[in-house]
Amino acid sequence: MGSFGRLARRAVETEMPIMVKMQQLIRGAKDAMSLAQGVVYWQPPKQALDKVKDLVWEPAISRYGADEGMIELREALLKKLLVENNLHKSSVVVTAGANQAFVDLVLTLCDAGDSVVMFAPYYFNAYMSFQMTGVTDILVGPGDPKTLHPDADWLEKTLSETKPTPKLVTVVNPGNPSGTYIPDPLLKRISALCKDAGAWLIVDNTYEYFMYDGRKHTCIEDDHILNIFSFSKAYGMMGWRVGYIAYPTDVPGLTDQLLKVQDNIPICASIISQHLALYSLEVGPQWVTDQVKDLVKNRTLLLDALSPLGPDAVRGGEGAIYLWAKLPDQYKDDDFSVVSWLAHKHGIAVIPGSASGGPGYIRISFGGMREEQTAIAAARLKKGLEQLVKDGMVH
Ligand SMILES: Cc1ncc(COP(=O)(O)O)c(C=O)c1O
Repeated sequence: MGSFGRLARRAVETEMPIMVKMQQLIRGAKDAMSLAQGVVYWQPPKQALDKVKDLVWEPAISRYGADEGMIELREALLKKLLVENNLHKSSVVVTAGANQAFVDLVLTLCDAGDSVVMFAPYYFNAYMSFQMTGVTDILVGPGDPKTLHPDADWLEKTLSETKPTPKLVTVVNPGNPSGTYIPDPLLKRISALCKDAGAWLIVDNTYEYFMYDGRKHTCIEDDHILNIFSFSKAYGMMGWRVGYIAYPTDVPGLTDQLLKVQDNIPICASIISQHLALYSLEVGPQWVTDQVKDLVKNRTLLLDALSPLGPDAVRGGEGAIYLWAKLPDQYKDDDFSVVSWLAHKHGIAVIPGSASGGPGYIRISFGGMREEQTAIAAARLKKGLEQLVKDGMVH
């Protein structure tokens, strides 16, 4: 048996992260600009960074902390959950980002072989988290073709007809990669269907503050609901790695099982990062909203860049930092070639929809660059798409 045969199936049979492929693609394409990675261009609030700078010599910063997170941060988060998210009876575990929060939950709630439900287009890391923990029976439901909202009728049928009943359903709100927002009544219907079926519901609220055109983000709470949040995008803290789970306090045993998983992955989120998270929370949500409102200009630039694809090709932009666009029909099975061509020929990187269960589409992020840079990237994208539509992938 060669060395390949000695690697774990859980890893070998998991998709290759699209971001790793994209990093390779961008390195190989001269001077490519990226509209690929889901990032924001801002740094954490200056006041918060200044305070953190003074902490590095304190011994406690270099020690382990409580698995569930620093008490002061958890207290601040409980207050935030109450005031901003209307979550009254949740407990909190602080994690090393929302991705780690998701893995914690999959390991806590699912056994290998369980079936789970997500909706296309889905968040690729959530899909991979299932795959690599042995939860390989992943039922992918359709989104409404016009709104990309999860199809609740399909969910109702699937939860009642699949035996054994799927263990867990997950949605991202607002969506990555869809960039659309699940309205409150639909979220409540999904929750009620899960509750009736005895399935858990994980809602990933990473982009809670990224709402446009007067839309308002809402959360729901019940004993079968787990809410995930992140400091990464809102406070520009991607590299600091802080997220958290709001979970139902009244479910017997849930805290204990969650802490077992937490203790075996990060032990605790980085202590200095938790301090930065706390100071950032003190600066408050208005700071985040002020950063987010400028993204509308980037969205406008990129909507124009996507116009060669036709008037009905683009979705998203309601929330999060994404537009989701349909390529001409002949590229349905080959979106990665188009992405690779755009990077090499036109110096612009976007994500292929096939990475999210949406072949033939591309995901464009409008958060990663300031307006001036976005304008340059948008011009490259528009030129590339005009050529794609008119002449194909000319080399
Ligand atoms: C929906 C969603 N969840 C989680 C994450 C990861 O966030 P974090 O940096 O907090 O791990 C991302 C990042 O792109 C995301 O889009």
